Amino acid sequence: MAEQESLEFGKADFVLMDTVSMPEFMANLRLRFEKGRIYTFIGEVVVSVNPYKLLNIYGRDTIEQYKGRELYERPPHLFAIADAAYKAMKRRSKDTCIVISGESGAGKTEASKYIMQYIAAITNPSQRAEVERVKNMLLKSNCVLEAFGNAKTNRNDNSSRFGKYMDINFDFKGDPIGGHINNYLLEKSRVIVQQPGERSFHSFYQLLQGGSEQMLRSLHLQKSLSSYNYIHVGAQLKSSINDAAEFRVVADAMKVIGFKPEEIQTVYKILAAILHLGNLKFVVDGDTPLIENGKVVSIIAELLSTKTDMVEKALLYRTVATGRDIIDKQHTEQEASYGRDAFAKAIYERLFCWIVTRINDIIEVKNYDTTIHGKNTVIGVLDIYGFEIFDNNSFEQFCINYCNEKLQQLFIQLVLKQEQEEYQREGIPWKHIDYFNNQIIVDLVEQQHKGIIAILDDACMNVGKVTDEMFLEALNSKLGKHAHFSSRKLCASDKILEFDRDFRIRHYAGDVVYSVIGFIDKNKDTLFQDFKRLMYNSSNPVLKNMWPEGKLSITEVTKRPLTAATLFKNSMIALVDNLASKIDYCGRKEPYYVRCIKPNDKKSPQIFDDERCRHQVEYLGLLENVRVRRAGFAFRQTYEKFLHRYKMISEFTWPNHDLPSDKEAVKKLIERCGFQDDVAYGKTKIFIRTPRTLFTLEELRAQMLIRIVLFLQKVWRGTLARMRYKRTKAALTIIRYYRRYKVKSYIHEVARRFHGVKTMRDYGKHVKWPSPPKVLRRFEEALQTIFNRWRASQLIKSIPASDLPQVRAKVAAVEMLKGQRADLGLQRAWEGNYLASKPDTPQTSGTFVPVANELKRKDKYMNVLFSCHVRKVNRFSKVEDRAIFVTDRHLYKMDPTKQYKVMKTIPLYNLTGLSVSNGKDQLVVFHTKDNKDLIVCLFSKQPTHESRIGELVGVLVNHFKSEKRHLQVNVTNPVQCSLHGKKCTVSVETRLNQPQPDFTKNRSGFILSVPGN
Ligand SMILES: Nc1ncnc2c1ncn2[C@@H]1O[C@H](COP(=O)(O)OP(=O)(O)OP(=O)(O)O)[C@@H](O)[C@H]1O
Ligand SMILES: [Mg+2]
Repeated sequence: MAEQESLEFGKADFVLMDTVSMPEFMANLRLRFEKGRIYTFIGEVVVSVNPYKLLNIYGRDTIEQYKGRELYERPPHLFAIADAAYKAMKRRSKDTCIVISGESGAGKTEASKYIMQYIAAITNPSQRAEVERVKNMLLKSNCVLEAFGNAKTNRNDNSSRFGKYMDINFDFKGDPIGGHINNYLLEKSRVIVQQPGERSFHSFYQLLQGGSEQMLRSLHLQKSLSSYNYIHVGAQLKSSINDAAEFRVVADAMKVIGFKPEEIQTVYKILAAILHLGNLKFVVDGDTPLIENGKVVSIIAELLSTKTDMVEKALLYRTVATGRDIIDKQHTEQEASYGRDAFAKAIYERLFCWIVTRINDIIEVKNYDTTIHGKNTVIGVLDIYGFEIFDNNSFEQFCINYCNEKLQQLFIQLVLKQEQEEYQREGIPWKHIDYFNNQIIVDLVEQQHKGIIAILDDACMNVGKVTDEMFLEALNSKLGKHAHFSSRKLCASDKILEFDRDFRIRHYAGDVVYSVIGFIDKNKDTLFQDFKRLMYNSSNPVLKNMWPEGKLSITEVTKRPLTAATLFKNSMIALVDNLASKIDYCGRKEPYYVRCIKPNDKKSPQIFDDERCRHQVEYLGLLENVRVRRAGFAFRQTYEKFLHRYKMISEFTWPNHDLPSDKEAVKKLIERCGFQDDVAYGKTKIFIRTPRTLFTLEELRAQMLIRIVLFLQKVWRGTLARMRYKRTKAALTIIRYYRRYKVKSYIHEVARRFHGVKTMRDYGKHVKWPSPPKVLRRFEEALQTIFNRWRASQLIKSIPASDLPQVRAKVAAVEMLKGQRADLGLQRAWEGNYLASKPDTPQTSGTFVPVANELKRKDKYMNVLFSCHVRKVNRFSKVEDRAIFVTDRHLYKMDPTKQYKVMKTIPLYNLTGLSVSNGKDQLVVFHTKDNKDLIVCLFSKQPTHESRIGELVGVLVNHFKSEKRHLQVNVTNPVQCSLHGKKCTVSVETRLNQPQPDFTKNRSGFILSVPGN
């Protein structure tokens, strides 16, 4: 209940009336109308009174006020209903619908447009381009439909002459993603005739007033409305609609919606062709009718992209198949005029239906996959012609009023009948509220075999000439006793009714007198086949598509098409079924209703015509609606479903109750929330009186949901983490086993390959190592080292102890010089003490040995490391042959020519390093601590030029190592040395004619020239 308005504006909800009476209802309605409050609630129904003036209540700020609000939080408004329907759809993912009813001019179409605007405004918060496009098209489609389906009538300057039911589809987020329009029975007779004061469809006037000169010329049209027979009746009428401006708006809308230029062009051509058709005149020449203005025929042919003679033939003849023969039967003048008018109506109707289909093609939901996008829900908006009573009511009014009876029946069924029956069934204390059930009138019209439509169809089915009077006669005889039917014949005193012409139906909304004239024709809706073929053969593909049945050849027998009334009846039954399927929200069994009331017949914003309004309130059953609503309950739900939705609110019911029944559990829950005074407990359902209670329940639920969601998230996250942990653990186990397997198989492989290496000649040197897994790389290195050591130890084991020093020296030489000097002399035995060796020094060894022994005694050396003849050069560039004798304590320089007299003794601890060249020469420089380097070139006699450098280096390095000292060995050319602190170099040069190595002086030191070979 709206609380935001003060009482000076009357009661915002009729339910709040002190007494439910017609005077109070009317007084409230009038007061609110006069205060500019055109909307009033009856619970969730909006009663709307046409203000006939622009009100500033539809803007962005108003929309914001209603967005997401509950019905009773804001003053009554269309937006409140639109929001409620939208919320209902979104909350429960269920289709809903809004039914807008009221008589012509009461404001239904305007209301439907405001509702759509509201929905468009509150959706798509993320501004998705696709949704914006859909919304734009849905809104734009209205103006196109209105141009072609609306007309000025005596009641309404913009009267919808067709019924419209529009579905708007929403995705799971609640954004519009498409739509679909169902159109119902266009009042096409308006194309050829209009009652005084009325006009044809807006489209004709718009084209003539708004089309450019050039366009009109191409369509052979002139601006003057009165030049065209079909529309000249209302040509002078002042209309509140600016046709010229509308023309451009509609053209633009068609473009935006996605009509192709050639389609738009065809639309104009069809309109022009119809206007020209109306001007066709037939004259009779003898018996044969002729076309008086043949030029018009060729214009029509041009506009319809067909041939003039074919148009003429279709207008004057009809092709009849009699048995096997096909003959052209000439029309009478009357038939020709009838054919022309039928043709004009038919092409307009086709055009209209084609426009609707085209719009549907464009706005339909595309590429929607419910498995991906979630459920797609629908809000249906019904804006269908209201109840009509004209001075002359014909077949169309009959259909329209029948439609209103059907909708009223739906309202009665849902709001009044089922509601009360349910209270009784559920054992809720209830005082029955009386209402008029219009089922009897619905039956009068639609009952099989007995109803007016059945009788009309029967009449149309008869072979031979059947007149409208004969139809009336059939009605009289079959419905004579019906309380809601009468005619002059049945009630002779009723002078309002004309004999053989009128019948009256006592509708729920009032009595309507219908003239039977035209009923048969309009019901048969005959259009000569020739016209269909003519259109099908048009070279304009758009036109051709509109007439697919023109493809049939003359001789093809087609099933008799359903009559117009039966088609309409079927569409109404389908519509009502569809609406009934969209109204199950929260146990409420009704659509959202907007009940429109027309305050006066003068389109005046000031007048509130009590009588007119009371009549509408009466027949709309609004007072009964208030009574049921007041005494009744806004919502109901089975205990089970109720619990399912709200059980989280109370600890008694969450997660499951242990009470004897769901009913008890619901009671407990309701008492816990303190709502016990606002509910009633039925046998299977709980009834909630006010929406506020339901809303509070919803709010409590929403609060709890957050906690439940958190709880679920917690559990689920835990589950996820556990699952992830298990997976990781499993993976790790697999990895571990796999690694173990890799390691094991590597070790097995190593064991296999190296099996028996001990007995191999090379102790497994040739065995190829398998490539190890990554983790064993270092292990492999270690293993190889161990293996190599083992192999070395095996090898060493086989070496006699006496050879060991020599082997060690060779190893030391290799370590020091490998890769730096070519010949290390490894192949030969290293004798070391060459001066004592007879082969090397045959004459002098005898002299040397006693000297060496003497030195041993004197200097107490243990081992001789090396001895050899050398050639030396000193700092005075003096070159002399000498010998060196290296023991484990000293390096002696001796003079061989003087019985190996010691010339110089260098203790080994004074020796800091050796320098050798990288060639094959035998140069060696001993570096000493006191920078008095000794530069020599080794000499060998036997064999000559034996390379002993490797041996000298190896022996010395090995010796130093054994004493844990380091001996620096440099391999360079030239060799650096220091003579008494003076730096100089010795470079080695090869000379071809050099007999023996010899030193010469040069600028930077010395050159050792060696013989080349
Ligand atoms: N809410 C409104 N505000 C201002 N004017 C309104 C409003 N509703 C209706 N009208 C005026 O009343 C006219 C008729 O309204 P509308 O066309 O909606 O009637 P309707 O019920 O659809 O009639 P019909 O059954 O003939 O189609 C509108 O053209 C407009 O001038
Ligand atoms: Mg309308």
